Amino acid sequence: MSECIQPVLLGADLNCYSMARAFFAACGRSSLAYGQTTLGATAHSRYVRFTAEPSLGKKEVLFPLLARLLKGLPPNERAMLIPCTDEYARLLIEEGETLPSSCLVPLPPPSALAFFEKSAFYAACREQEIPYPDTISLSAMPSLSAIRAAGEQLGFPFIIKPSSSVTYWHYPFAGMEKVYLAHNKNEAECVLAGIFGSGYPGEVLLQRYIPGGDAAGYVLTVYMDRGGRVRLRACGRVLLEEHTPCGKGNYAALVTVPVPEIAKPLCHLLAAVGYRGFANFDLRQDVHDGRFYALEVNLRLGRSNYFLTAGGQNPAAWLLDDYVRHTALPCVDMENEVLFRTVPYAVVRRYTARDEDADLAQALHRAGRDACPLYDRDDLVGNPLRALYVAAHMRREKQKFRQYCARIR
Ligand SMILES: Nc1ncnc2c1ncn2[C@@H]1O[C@H](COP(=O)(O)OP(=O)(O)O)[C@@H](O)[C@H]1O
Ligand SMILES: [Mg+2]
Repeated sequence: MSECIQPVLLGADLNCYSMARAFFAACGRSSLAYGQTTLGATAHSRYVRFTAEPSLGKKEVLFPLLARLLKGLPPNERAMLIPCTDEYARLLIEEGETLPSSCLVPLPPPSALAFFEKSAFYAACREQEIPYPDTISLSAMPSLSAIRAAGEQLGFPFIIKPSSSVTYWHYPFAGMEKVYLAHNKNEAECVLAGIFGSGYPGEVLLQRYIPGGDAAGYVLTVYMDRGGRVRLRACGRVLLEEHTPCGKGNYAALVTVPVPEIAKPLCHLLAAVGYRGFANFDLRQDVHDGRFYALEVNLRLGRSNYFLTAGGQNPAAWLLDDYVRHTALPCVDMENEVLFRTVPYAVVRRYTARDEDADLAQALHRAGRDACPLYDRDDLVGNPLRALYVAAHMRREKQKFRQYCARIR
């Protein structure tokens, strides 16, 4: 029955390409993708046909485009609509119910929208007694003495980040970064002046820094079925993050680890808002006491979703089984140990900080349990334009690490 499903992806980046690969593997269909600008990740691929629409972030543009697309489908076909960025996830969760039944939208109800604000997510964590880092929320530029008091409460260095990353990127300014580490009150003042000076209208969070470098990061992906039951949980430990100013927190390499205990209350938190579909949590483990902390939840699959496919849990197959084939789904904790990476293997070897992690990466690489979404024989052989893009991307990744990250070995 899955032959009658046309995957429609909103986005253009690696997340989008990884989902297109997953859909092709699950049902043999190429995806249609729409995004605001063309990116190499989804160009010249047999798995995805990308169309650029510069104003796609506006609902007045997105929904008529989807209506036209649905009208053009053959009568025996339905679309499955997947957002690959927060911006599209928000639009679809807000308005997805207005779409016709020829469009499957495996997303949570509007009651989950509050989680787009980290401050609201932390409030929900507090209610469920889920640990999150001590946080101070600001809605306007604080005085220097207020920053000093925050430093006393949180300790230096502390993290500065916007509560709403969707809104934040609409207010660019010189020196803008995804997240900041302020080592003293002057640094904090400078960062906050930049953010509030940009006109960003949302809350800004000052947060205790959870130490441990890249290796303290974890990603937890959960799938809640149409009936709201948790079906899949998969956890990856970060070996290496991107280190560019706008890429911090993007995972460059992950390995599968057993699902930590904190997953249980996090799933309860999702269930409490009637969650459906995939959710992706960023977590951190304090190296001093081993405690896990929740940093945020994304109401969609993450950029590293190929991690699931590589571990034998193709996310598109889960969606098709649930929404199209109506299969009785098992409850699975992903266990297959794999190395997931978006950068050349040499970069993982060279820049992974802990020796034991670099050794683990090497063992998985040698055992062939090493997956990079961009390396796909069937999409590269006989496709020189795609092969050129992938080679150039990998060269750029090497250069970026050389520029922004200290070489370990
Ligand atoms: N309290 C914290 N302690 C240590 N690192 C943090 C903290 N908060 C954020 N980070 C780092 O910044 C990245 C991005 O933060 P996150 O809360 O996930 O927001 P977003 O992904 O929306 O920018 C994280 O993956 C982590 O690497
Ligand atoms: Mg994050």
